[in-house]
Amino acid sequence: MKHLTMLSTATIIAVITGCSVSNDFTPVAGNSGEEIFSNACIDCHTPEGGYIYDISPDRANLETIATIISKGEMVMPAFPNIQGAELTAISEFVLAKNKPAATEDSTSE
Ligand code: HEC
Repeated sequence: MKHLTMLSTATIIAVITGCSVSNDFTPVAGNSGEEIFSNACIDCHTPEGGYIYDISPDRANLETIATIISKGEMVMPAFPNIQGAELTAISEFVLAKNKPAATEDSTSE
């Protein structure tokens, strides 16, 4: 209960100030992007029709996605403990689960 209260307080402060919350989730070394996603991200990012994300084309690249995960963004928490190979793995997973832009990829089923 105490933990839940602290988390809620941090979330409220973040919403009021516009700063992102920091999440201390630490992946097991060698975890795949999918494993990290189902441990740390699935509560907020729900798969829909085979895709999870709908990121604007100018942001849909590994570097920007890794920065969003590391630093957070508004309500999206920062994950400072996801680093190195695991940060690359989760970033690649996000990109693979990003809905292709309508103008690209007309071959998807
Ligand atoms: C506490 C809820 C929460 C958790 C946990 C969370 N996110 Fe987010 N995330 C959000 C919100 C809210 C946004 C901003 C709105 C949106 O784009 O859905 C966001 C945005 C993002 C974006 C940018 C999407 C865009 O369209 O620009 C990425 C990428 C992302 N999250 C990846 C992750 C990954 C990877 C994890 C797990 C390591 C994660 N998130 C965990 C809430 C969360």
